[in-house]
Amino acid sequence: MNLPVKVKIVEVGPRDGLQNEKQVVTTAIKIELIERLADAGLRAIEATSFVSPKWVPQMGDNTAVMQGIKRHPAAVYPVLTPNLQGFDAAVQAGATEVAIFGAASESFSRKNINCSIAESLKRFEPVVSAASALEIPVRGYVSCVVGCPYEGAIAPEQAAAVAKTLFDMGCYEVSLGDTIGVGNPATIQRMIEACARAVPITKLAGHYHDTYGMAIANIYASLQMGMAVFDSSIAGLGGCPYAKGASGNVATEDVVYLLQGLGIETGIDLAKLAVIGDWVSSAINRPNGAKAGRALCAKANP
Ligand code: HMG
Ligand code: MG
Repeated sequence: MNLPVKVKIVEVGPRDGLQNEKQVVTTAIKIELIERLADAGLRAIEATSFVSPKWVPQMGDNTAVMQGIKRHPAAVYPVLTPNLQGFDAAVQAGATEVAIFGAASESFSRKNINCSIAESLKRFEPVVSAASALEIPVRGYVSCVVGCPYEGAIAPEQAAAVAKTLFDMGCYEVSLGDTIGVGNPATIQRMIEACARAVPITKLAGHYHDTYGMAIANIYASLQMGMAVFDSSIAGLGGCPYAKGASGNVATEDVVYLLQGLGIETGIDLAKLAVIGDWVSSAINRPNGAKAGRALCAKANP
């Protein structure tokens, strides 16, 4: 089988994982989480988002988080920036990588960022130009690549068209979001096939939420197609504020367990990761959503 030799994991727990928490998570917990994830070997950690605090209050401490973290010299800490206002604030706070986020579904685009897909793409252009002038890499996201909470199934070509626009605009990588975790290996592979006709597969990433328990199977199906970048969230934290009922991202612990089993290099210390997942789950009063994490902790503390 033609699996990649090496996989990059983008840890999105501190942003995608925490953005949906109803109770306030302290800045100190966020900072400790980010620092411990870097210590466990994660080299891309999405730290926060520079969105409107009226829309997502949990990310309102974005500047304090960015300025509070001790940065690992080999790690990057991307942040979400929906518009120039967010981009400027992110740069002020010391961000060195940003992400713009669009959607393959019109209804989701309106609910999430209050504009149409076309308007959002127009709004991203000045962000990419400003980033390019400062040599700040920009990652792109496409949400609802296989399904939308408002529109149901999404055609693969719709996801591919938005992915292509983001890539052509200058995003160095486009992350394909199954925002509500409804995909399965068949729909995910059809979607990747369409996207890979528009953007090289080496520039695509998989961002799978685990609502129906398919995320690990979807990653395995994506690996078989040559995809080598996946987003995941420690302890499976998360959900999307604009996609009711959607559960967190696939757990980083489970992804690393899978990759190690397949002999794929990640550079991540799974034992450390399991302890971090357990710690953060109890710190925010939530059950640990990582199956591999729970099993490893149970084995370590019989
Ligand atoms: P809007 O209301 O249309 O914006 O929101 P506006 O330009 O009309 O401004 C309205 C107010 O917001 C103004 O303040 C602006 O200053 C302020 P006021 O004058 O009323 O006091 N504002 C901002 N404040 C801080 N930072 C900013 C900013 N921009 C405007 N950047 C906007 C448009 C995009 C801002 C809004 O809809 C928003 O913040 N949405 C947040 C969406 C979000 O964070 N969603 C979750 C992340 S996406 C996701 O989870 C999916 C992903 O994981 C992939 C997947 O799973 O599919 C990435
Ligand atoms: Mg997400």
